[in-house]
Amino acid sequence: MAKQTTGTIGILTAGGDCPGLNAVIRGVAKAAMHYGLKVVGIQDGFRGLVENRTTPIDNKLVSGILTQGGTFLGSSRDRPHKMKVNGRTVDLTGEAVKTYHKLKLDCLVCLGGNGTQKSAWRLHERGGLNVLTLPKTIDNDVAGTDITFGFDSAMAIATEAIDRLHTTATSHQRVIVCEVMGHDAGWLCLGAGIAGGADVVLIPEIPYDLEIVAQHLLRRRRAGKRFSIIAVAEGIISQQEARARADALHRPGGQTEASDSVPGAVYHGIHLVQEPVASRLARQLQQLAGLEARVTSLGHVQRGGTPTAFDRLLCTRLGTKAGELLAKKQYNIMIGLKGNDCVPVPLQKVVGIKRVVPVDHPWIKTARLVETCLGDED
Ligand code: F6P
Repeated sequence: MAKQTTGTIGILTAGGDCPGLNAVIRGVAKAAMHYGLKVVGIQDGFRGLVENRTTPIDNKLVSGILTQGGTFLGSSRDRPHKMKVNGRTVDLTGEAVKTYHKLKLDCLVCLGGNGTQKSAWRLHERGGLNVLTLPKTIDNDVAGTDITFGFDSAMAIATEAIDRLHTTATSHQRVIVCEVMGHDAGWLCLGAGIAGGADVVLIPEIPYDLEIVAQHLLRRRRAGKRFSIIAVAEGIISQQEARARADALHRPGGQTEASDSVPGAVYHGIHLVQEPVASRLARQLQQLAGLEARVTSLGHVQRGGTPTAFDRLLCTRLGTKAGELLAKKQYNIMIGLKGNDCVPVPLQKVVGIKRVVPVDHPWIKTARLVETCLGDED
């Protein structure tokens, strides 16, 4: 046992949860304690930090949690500089800084997605805190890493759902539209769509043409296929909507909603999506193609349950690497996976960048080569 260092680290989980958070907490805590650091858990994300709600972490507390979904620390979408208190939004950065010093922390470890990376960086820049982050999200849209933890588990759940939809769609000769999460990024839908063999995969990065999708379904029916499965990402837009967005952006003062808000709300006063995208699509395709359609929205099922073996390994590797670098007092970094290595990335290189699917990504080519319609060409 190498107890080389002293000091205390705080750890919190923020944003939407996902399978693997407990595995990372365990990895960070065990490795940090191995090197002689004390670990304090902060409850319910940044809200627990401003409210000084903490729990000491020891070996016993993190034992047996590797396979558990969710986060035993709790999570929230609160941000210190925009905290809702009694219906008002207030800047509580000062309170967060106070708690950090009260706990005598040397570094605050933040597990989260793009919003969390930003909040951590803000605490460093405005509050002078040392921070270290780890990339969590089922959306897989954090820059500076090849993959985020939680993504593989969510993709496995969505793939299994698409598998199951195949059998019932075949029995009833139906089109089933399956809505997958992912915010503005198509990774989850594209990955699960390819793995599950969906016939149509629609992602936000490729605006779709309804007519092209309808023609693809009709062609399948004429070829004697009894079913079609359409995997849609929650953030999809049609080509018409994409044009409206572009026009709005080019108008004086044009701007889009903040990039880490929930998709489908308001763009320069234009309300783009008022109903779940899958329902809208099913209704429109039913009218256009005259085929019976049904909708399945996977929702938070994708964020629940136990992490896959891949995620357990990734989480343990990222977490222990964090513990190792914390012992060396390397701060203001995110640990990402690059190739087969867990590596530190300067946090300022990650913040404010959303990693969406490039249209020339190999997965796109793969999908097209197995005749999956991506909504832009048949
Ligand atoms: O960022 C993860 C995510 O699951 C997105 O895919 C989705 O848009 C959003 O969170 C849902 O958020 P909430 O759990 O707050 O409804």
